[in-house]
Amino acid sequence: MPSEMKMSYHEKLKSGIDIVPMQQEHAFQLEALQHKVFPNLAEEEILHAEQYKKHLEIFPEGQFVALDGEKVVGATTTMRYRYDIKNPEPHTFSEIMGGGWLTTHDPEGEWLYGIDVSVDPEYRKMGIAKALYRARQHLCRQLGLKGQLTVGMLNGYDRLRGEMTIEEYYQKVKRKEIFDPTVSVQEKVGFEIVGFMKDYLNDPTCGNSGAVIVLDASKEI
Ligand SMILES: CC(C)(COP(=O)(O)OP(=O)(O)OC[C@H]1O[C@@H](n2cnc3c(N)ncnc32)[C@H](O)[C@@H]1OP(=O)(O)O)[C@@H](O)C(=O)NCCC(=O)NCCS
Repeated sequence: MPSEMKMSYHEKLKSGIDIVPMQQEHAFQLEALQHKVFPNLAEEEILHAEQYKKHLEIFPEGQFVALDGEKVVGATTTMRYRYDIKNPEPHTFSEIMGGGWLTTHDPEGEWLYGIDVSVDPEYRKMGIAKALYRARQHLCRQLGLKGQLTVGMLNGYDRLRGEMTIEEYYQKVKRKEIFDPTVSVQEKVGFEIVGFMKDYLNDPTCGNSGAVIVLDASKEI
């Protein structure tokens, strides 16, 4: 497939926000956005400008931004990965993304693994995350992948940590008794919860854990 074809994605939202492929020139704004969106994540789990530049060398077609004019207001980082969702191997966030450098990207991987989706708090609930997932879905189809796979952070655990363990919280989110601001939003987009990943990252807000979620490439979002 010619690279121009993969790199030509563009969706303009009704709000005027553009969803387009990430470029090297966005790297510094992207690092600033990471700090704004993930204030509780350990510094080594935040993506930095140099790492974004590397991602664009390794897998340019898997990186998208949401722009308000020239301003980066949302972004997503992905890579290809081989993964048996029936027998999921435990891994950490840092391991899966090669310490942030995406050296773990497997050009033959059958899943599009989502490293993150971040939307500027001032631009939330405008459909930007959904549009970024849609761009990823478009890429899955272009590349003939099974779909999207990611580990969603159980961010809503923080306000209930005194009342239950993270495992109990996960079960309640899965049974839809609790709406989690990240994983339940991902479910709303179309993802299905397929497992629990303990000690995935270093963020006490989500009990260091996440939910393994998948979105089949055939699903319209
Ligand atoms: C999770 C996140 C990416 C969502 O971004 P967003 O652009 O606000 O999401 P969208 O506007 O596309 O919303 C998608 C759907 O979820 C709903 N939604 C979004 N946030 C919600 C919330 N906090 N509570 C209830 N519903 C919510 C929207 O209304 C929309 O529903 P609809 O399709 O029925 O209209 C954003 O809150 C964020 O950056 N959070 C911090 C980082 C993070 O957790 N990233 C994901 C894991 S890496």
